[in-house]
Parts: sequence; structure tokens; C-alpha cells
Amino acid sequence: MAGPLRVGVVGVGQRGLQHVRSLTALQSDEIVRLAALADPYAENLDAAKINGLVPEYRDAGVQKFATVREMVDSGSVDAIWFVMPPNQHRGEIEYAAGRGIHIFAEKPQSLFLDEVLRQNEAITKAGVLSMCGFQMRHDRGYTDIRNYLKGKWVASMTMIAEGAVEGHGVKHTHTEEQGGPANRVWTANKAWSGTSIVEAGIHQTDIMRYWSDDDVAWVRANYVERPRELQDAEGDNPIYYEVSYGFKKGGMGTIIFTKPARSYYQGRFDCIVWTHGTIKLEDDFVDYHFDGEWPPAEKPGLEDVRKVISAGPHDTAMGGENTTDLGKAFAEGVSLGKPELMRNTFGSSINSLAAVLAANVSNDLGGEKIVIDEFVSDRKYAKYRKRPAGV
Ligand SMILES: NC(=O)c1ccc[n+]([C@@H]2O[C@H](COP(=O)([O-])OP(=O)(O)OC[C@H]3O[C@@H](n4cnc5c(N)ncnc54)[C@H](O)[C@@H]3O)[C@@H](O)[C@H]2O)c1
Repeated sequence: MAGPLRVGVVGVGQRGLQHVRSLTALQSDEIVRLAALADPYAENLDAAKINGLVPEYRDAGVQKFATVREMVDSGSVDAIWFVMPPNQHRGEIEYAAGRGIHIFAEKPQSLFLDEVLRQNEAITKAGVLSMCGFQMRHDRGYTDIRNYLKGKWVASMTMIAEGAVEGHGVKHTHTEEQGGPANRVWTANKAWSGTSIVEAGIHQTDIMRYWSDDDVAWVRANYVERPRELQDAEGDNPIYYEVSYGFKKGGMGTIIFTKPARSYYQGRFDCIVWTHGTIKLEDDFVDYHFDGEWPPAEKPGLEDVRKVISAGPHDTAMGGENTTDLGKAFAEGVSLGKPELMRNTFGSSINSLAAVLAANVSNDLGGEKIVIDEFVSDRKYAKYRKRPAGV
């Protein structure tokens, strides 16, 4: 491809602005040209508002549109970053792909599996390149874990994310005009976020797949609902989530999420167990593994078995640096015709999304085991794959 990739961003909200920042940086290296922005709310396209969060952004040469169709029809972009709320898609990805536009889609690609399958069909049929917004796959430390685990069998991955209602970011969609939450914090609201497991736990789900080079085969989940009388003020997403995955190679994954209000606490626990070791995410990433003749004559001390597999500091997995690497991987993947730089495709990411959507179904069915292949195609789950009437 001659010249930098011409990129459009659809949805200039919290995450869209992070992409605008990354794309502005990549523009200096002539990897991309930020050619267009689309958002139904004119204020979100205003240069002064964008500069408030991205001072380096320059408006000159950036076309502005209210809709994706106008952006696509303008012929001004080669690739689009879709960064709109996941319940707001109305065939835009299919439209863009059908006209030869390469597709970068933020997670979750939609809240409704039928739509995701249609989006994927359009991408596949058009033969355009695609990628989903899982920036943790571009983290140095997490990639060191994946490489270390190559050729090893992973028995379990456990992640506890202690969060809080206050941890939800401020959003830019006018949800109050669309029957959504009055305070615009749509991530606390089920109809908009699909639950915190879909909105946020999809990252943990996807990174488990990345680490173990595996796919989710089945899921069981149980949630604790937030007391009804608190839901108007704190959002109607559950307060506690417990999700178990069975992976295709036989290992298990467990995700626990907590979302009380007023705690302001954030904490996490991560542990990966393989046949002969326990990997812990300390300041360094460490495997506790005895590699001498076994059993040893004397019990080794912890320091004897502690192996650093990725030197710290490691505090940026969800951060801006990895978002820029993610954008760079997609842009260069398209421009240089090297899709292997991307570390996922829209199609390969469906397993992460299907797993979290199926967790909701399992919880609805009292913790029933949901086999992902059946969830994706079996008639018995058809009603769970559809966008509900009136939404
Ligand atoms: N990868 C990550 O770490 C990460 C972080 C935050 C958000 N996200 C994802 O990014 C997406 C957007 O979330 P956000 O936090 O930016 O929300 P947001 O509400 O702040 O921004 C969404 C933007 O999309 C616009 N929009 C709404 N409908 C649209 C439409 N039909 N066409 C074009 N634009 C439309 C809104 O006006 C708003 O500006 C979600 O899918 C979210 O899950 C990903």
C-alpha cells in the first residue's frame, strides 16, 4: 500500500479518544493518517473537546461524519476503528467490510452473537483484514508468559479482579436520551454492557486463551445480583461474578469479579498452574518450578525454585503503550500485508466473546454447563443469540 494507512475512528468517546491519541502518535511515524472521525453527537467531534484529552491532536485534514455510512461512502478511509458501545451496532461493520474497508473492532464486538456472526461473515466474504481490541495480547510480560508456556500443558488459570462501581469510567454516549442510564456510566448497566463479565471480563477471558494458546470449550457461571433497591443509583449489573471455563486441551480457567459500590478498592490475584509449576504475577512474573532431579534429597526452599520468566516492572497491560502497539500491529498488518502481526482476527476473537455471553446464559439457567459450540449454533440457544425485541 502506497503511503500511510488512511484510518477512520467511529465513536469518539472514552476509548475512541485513547485510539485518537495512539493514532496521532503513529501518524508522526507515518504509519497511519487519521483521515476521519464519526460520531452521532457533534460535540464529540469538536477539536477543542478532543484537544482537552489529546493535546497533540490536529483537526486539519480530518473529515467529520455523523454516521459510518457517510464515512465509508466518502472514500476517505482504508480502515475503520469501531469504538462505539457494543449494543449500538446496526450493520455498520458489514457495510464497511462489504466496501473493502479493513475492520478494527473494539471488544465486545456486539452483545448479540447473531450479529457478531453476521459481521464475521461479511468480513470473511469481503476478504478484508480484521482485528479486535485486546491490547493485553501486546503486553511484553503477558507475551513472555505465553512464550514460556509453549509446549507446556496448562491445568488452570485463576484470576480474581476486585473492582468497584466507582472504577467505571465516564462515558461520552448520551445514554440518557436513549433510555439508558441518566449518568452515562453505561458500563454499570446490563442492557448496555451485557454485564461486567462481558464488558470487562472478556479481557481476562481472552488473555487466558492467549497464554494457553487454547479456546474455551464450555462455561458455567453464577452471579450475585445487586440488591434491587440499590440498582437505580449503582447500576443493575451484578455485584459478584464467578465464572468457570473448561478449555479444549482440558485445563480450567476461573474468573471472579467483584463490583461493590463505596469500597473504592481495586485488587487482583492471578495464578497459572501447569504440570510442574505455579506462575505468579509478582513485581516480576515468576514460575515456581524445581528443575533438578526429582524428588530431591532435600526439600528445596522457595528461593531455589523461584524463576523469573519476565522481569518487571509490569503495570501497563491495559495501558496506553499497549493500545498504541495494538493500533500499530493492525496498521502495519494491513499496510505490509502481514496479518501475523495482529495476534488475533475478528473471527478468532469470537471464542472470547461467545464465552462471556455464554457465562450470562449459564447464570440465567442456574449455573448450567454451556458448551460453546452449541451456544454458537444450536437451536436451543437461539433466543440467547438474538438482539431482544425493542432494544
Ligand atoms: N480495550 C479496552 O481497554 C477498552 C476500554 C474502554 C472501552 N472499550 C470499548 O470501546 C467501546 C466504546 O466504549 P467507550 O468507553 O469509548 O464508550 P463511550 O460512551 O465513552 O464512547 C462511545 C462513543 O461512540 C459514539 N457512538 C454511539 N453510537 C454510535 C454510532 N451508531 N456510530 C458512531 N458512534 C457512535 C458515542 O457518541 C460516543 O462518543 C466499547 O465497546 C467498550 O467496551 C475498550
